[in-house]
This record gives sequence, C-alpha cells and structure tokens, in this order.
Amino acid sequence: MKPVLILYASYDGQAQRIARTLALYLSHHALAVELCDIKQPPSQYDNCSAIIMVAAVRYGRHLPEVATFLRSAPRQIQHIPLAIASVSLSARKGNGAPNNYLRKLISQFNLTPFAVIALAGKLDYPRYSWLDRQMIRFIMYLSGGPSDGRCSVEYTDWQQLAVFAQKITTHLCLPTPDE
Ligand SMILES: Cc1cc2nc3c(=O)[nH]c(=O)nc-3n(C[C@H](O)[C@H](O)[C@H](O)COP(=O)(O)O)c2cc1C
Repeated sequence: MKPVLILYASYDGQAQRIARTLALYLSHHALAVELCDIKQPPSQYDNCSAIIMVAAVRYGRHLPEVATFLRSAPRQIQHIPLAIASVSLSARKGNGAPNNYLRKLISQFNLTPFAVIALAGKLDYPRYSWLDRQMIRFIMYLSGGPSDGRCSVEYTDWQQLAVFAQKITTHLCLPTPDE
C-alpha cells in the first residue's frame, strides 16, 4: 500500500506533536507514513494512499498555510482520501465532534473528508509573546480557562486521537470491491 501523507500546520508545536503521535499510531497498524510540514508539501501526490491534515487554529482560523495548500493543490488531491484533525483550545470543551473552525474549513474548500476530529491543543503562556498572551488570557477569561500567565496545560485528549487513528486505519484497510 502507498504511504499515508500526514501534513501538519503548527505554530507552537502542538499540532506537530499530534501529527507525530498519529504517525506512530498508524505505523503500529502497519501503515507506511510520511510526515511533512504543510509549508513544504510534496510536488506530487501520486505516491500516497491518503492525506491526513493536522492543522492548528490561531486567531479564529486555521493557520494560513492550510488555505495556501488547499488553494494550490486542489486538483491533485481531489481524488485522494482526506482526513482532518483541527487543533484548537476551544475544542477542549468538546468531544472531538467538528466545531465551527472545522466546519468552516470544510465548506470553504468543498472538502469531503472521510474522518474529522476537533482536538484540543496546548495552552502555553510562557511561550507566547506579550501580545499573544494578552489575547489568550482574554479568551480564557471568557471561556472559564486559566488566566495565570505562568500556566502551561496540555489539553490534548490522546485517547480521542487514538480513536481517530482507528477510524483512519479501518477506512484505509477496507478491501476495495476489485481487490
Ligand atoms: C496567538 C494565539 C491565538 C490563538 N487563537 C485561537 C483561537 O482563535 N481559537 C482557539 O480555539 N484556539 C486558539 N489558540 C489556541 C491554539 O489553537 C492552541 O494553542 C494550539 O495548541 C496551537 O497549536 P500549535 O502549537 O501547533 O501552534 C490560539 C493560540 C495562540 C498562541
């Protein structure tokens, strides 16, 4: 089977960490995996069985390189099975079901993913610039999260990621009618 291409879009590293963990899960299920920063995607996609996008949300939308990628490669990836993991802090209150960020991305680019998940990311105040810290403190204040600027909390639910990985392997390992 051709490798699964995992494309990640990450600013502070958590979406990349999630992508790496997903790669491990998939390789444990005997799937070949290629991990790639979405800023430097492959030049062609003939050699992949599926694309899994793991994308962080920042300032109300997925990182801009996600839109750049989807705008630049729509034809080439049109027929390749797609799964999307959206990483944000608002997802910490959900159960993995698509949130507004994910729904908006799907409708904006007319995507038809076979699996989606809204995963919680990481709150890491010490890492942020002063301005970003104020912004996140405000969001946390509004949504009842920690506002202590020394706080660092990983909200990612790794069990949810394992279930997502299972969905992917089940989908990709199903024999097609002519097999
Ligand atoms: C400046 C900044 C803006 C953010 N904006 C949002 C947002 O609008 N909505 C949200 O749910 N999470 C937001 N987050 C939280 C990130 O999605 C979360 O920290 C995620 O783990 C980031 O992934 P990354 O580490 O791969 O960049 C923001 C984080 C930062 C630092």
